[in-house]
Formats: sequence, C-alpha cells, structure tokens
Amino acid sequence: MTDHHNMTRLVATPPLGWNSWNAFSCDVTEADIRDAADALVETGLRDAGYEYVVVDDCWMASETDSEGRLQPSADFPNGMAALADYVHNRGLKFGLYSSAGTETCQGYPASLCRERLHAEQFADWGVDYLKYDNCGDHAGRDAIDRYAAMGAALASVERDIVYSICEWGQNRPWEWGRNVGGHLWRATDDLVAKWRADPDEFGLGVADALDRMADIDAAAAHGPSGWNDPDMLQIGNGPDSGQSEHEAVDVQRPLTEAERRTHFAFWCLLAAPLMVGTDLTSLSGFDRELLTNERLLAIDQDPLGIQGTPDRRGDDAEIWSKRLRDGGAVAFHNHGESDREISTHVSAVDVPARADRYRVYDCWTGNKWETSGSLAMTVEPRDTAIVRVTPQ
Ligand code: GAL
Repeated sequence: MTDHHNMTRLVATPPLGWNSWNAFSCDVTEADIRDAADALVETGLRDAGYEYVVVDDCWMASETDSEGRLQPSADFPNGMAALADYVHNRGLKFGLYSSAGTETCQGYPASLCRERLHAEQFADWGVDYLKYDNCGDHAGRDAIDRYAAMGAALASVERDIVYSICEWGQNRPWEWGRNVGGHLWRATDDLVAKWRADPDEFGLGVADALDRMADIDAAAAHGPSGWNDPDMLQIGNGPDSGQSEHEAVDVQRPLTEAERRTHFAFWCLLAAPLMVGTDLTSLSGFDRELLTNERLLAIDQDPLGIQGTPDRRGDDAEIWSKRLRDGGAVAFHNHGESDREISTHVSAVDVPARADRYRVYDCWTGNKWETSGSLAMTVEPRDTAIVRVTPQ
C-alpha cells in the first residue's frame, strides 16, 4: 500500500503557503520559485505552517507536445519534476496552475478535455496542489461539468493532490465545490493590493472582499477539506508588485500597517486559505511578524474549521466572530475616520454562552483579562482588534 488516499484528510485545516501570481505575475521563473522555497524556510514561515509553494499562470510553454501534454517554458529550464524535488527537499509541498478551458488567463495551453493526461503529468512530476482557473474557451460546458472532469482525473491518479477551484465565485462554487472533489474554491474576484478598488478597475480591495464575503453568506459550506477562498494575501505588495503592474488597477501605495492587520485578522477569522503573495526575498520585519502571528494562525487553523461571520455591520464599527473549539474569536473593525471604542457582549457573538467568567486574550498584544460578558476595544481607523474569548 502506498501513501495514496491515506487516512489523513487533505487540508483538514485551511492550506497555508505561497503563490507566485501577486508577486511575479507572468514573469515568474524557476529561480523565483526556488528563492521562494528557500525564503519560506529562512523567514520561519515554513515552521509557522506555510507549506505549499504554488507556481501560478505562465509556467507552461505556448505549445503542448504532440499528444497534448503541457511542457514547461524556457523560464523553467530544469523542468517541473526537478523543481518539485527542490521544493520537497525543503520540507514543503509543490503546486501548479492550469485552467478549465482551452487556454489559461494569459493565453497558454490549459486542460479542458485533457484532464486525465494532465493529471497524470502532475502526479508524475510530484505535484501536491492544483490551482484550476476558469479562463479560455469552455466548449459550451458549464462550470460544474468542467470542474468535475478535473476532480475525477485527480481522484484517479496515484497521488494526493489538493484541488483548488478558481472560478471566481461566479456560479456559487460553495454549493458544488466539495461534490466535484474540490478542497477550496475562490468565492470572490481577484484581490488587489488596495483597500478599495474603483468599480471600473480590475479586482477587489480588502474592504470590498469583506463586503462580498458578508453578502454571499457561504459560511455553511465551509469546513474541513472544503474551504471558501477570498483569494491570496496582498500583504507586502504595492505599486511595484507583479499583479499590480499587470492588471488594470491603479495601486498608489502599499496597504498601511492598520490595513494589513485588518487583512490578516479577517482572513484568519474567515478560516481562509492563507497563500502569501509577496516576494519573500524582501519581506519586511512587520510583515514577517504579522504572517507568523501564532495567535492569529491558531484562529485560522482551529480544528472545527468554522468560518467567521458578521454580527453587526452597516455603521462605522463592525463586529465579526468565529466559533472556536474552546470558545470564540471576536473582531472589532473600525470603518470610520477616527479612533473609536467598539463594544459588544459575549451573548451577541459566536462564543459559547455557558459561563459566568470568560478569559479574553488580545491577539495583537498578548494581553489577557477577564470579563463577565462585556467586550470593548479601542480601534484606529481601518484597523481591527481581535480577541480570543474562552469560557472559564
Ligand atoms: C486569474 C486568477 C488569478 C491568477 C490569474 C492568472 O483568473 O483569479 O488568481 O491565477 O488568473 O492569469
């Protein structure tokens, strides 16, 4: 018996890793991927749990071989099996990208009608994760049909491959993603390195993505081995990063520290897949500390896998919460323009209401205190306070 389809469920908690797109867009090279794998180790991100190294669009040559197999471009001179080995040798897992159409979003060959052939290639190369996009001609087939074909192909090969559906949330993939073998599915359009994007430009800002996650109300579909995906992290990115330069979006500055804290706090509260999207060879100290914050990662990786949801929105102060195995996490977000105190009560959020006393733990400062039920935090504009609340 090989380790194929072993008893461990794939992505029992949301996958953590790094993906090339936001940092390098279509200019990605083999050297960038090796550097990213090395940097995951050196920065401590691997030891904090970031495991998957995923090569996004543009790794493939513009022609398949005569049988329709994908071939690596000249920017990957040693080929994908060697690159997978390099990544595996650092204690990491390796991912690739293709599309459920005739072409990828950047016009390279993709996998529609060649699912089995490509799944076998991925397995032979040692691929552990497939991000499967929605570009190219669909040959008249709907999303469920096209994504089910790759799901069946991946299930037929002798390797466990995490299946990441990237259909942008257009056909409510949270309603069928699990059924077609998916382990995560994009619930939203592409996230850009902005707080808010204008409606006429490409993508969603962090605040736009949170609005979308609140609106679609997909939390019931979310859980172990099947995750709603609000897209990859933009922490560390700004005007010069690959995606910002490539897409039709005007990025004027990196996210501020408050905006980055909000981005990370909410992705953890949503129990989102955390795919770092910045060039790790120039990761700042602030971003490294943010991405490796153990208190936040424990919320993201809580074994119950419950997605956080809004309890109160619509004014300048928002409250969201997430049930945890031993209590709950509560986020206090300031949407306004000045500092404010935001308050709530354990009875108004997703915390088990069974105690007279609760311990409260500030996930940014590590400060601890007790309460009989009231919770109040002072929060800067665009920032988010997040606490872990445990019944005593
Ligand atoms: C988009 C996808 C992005 C990225 C890009 C590559 O469709 O949402 O995450 O993969 O294609 O071309």
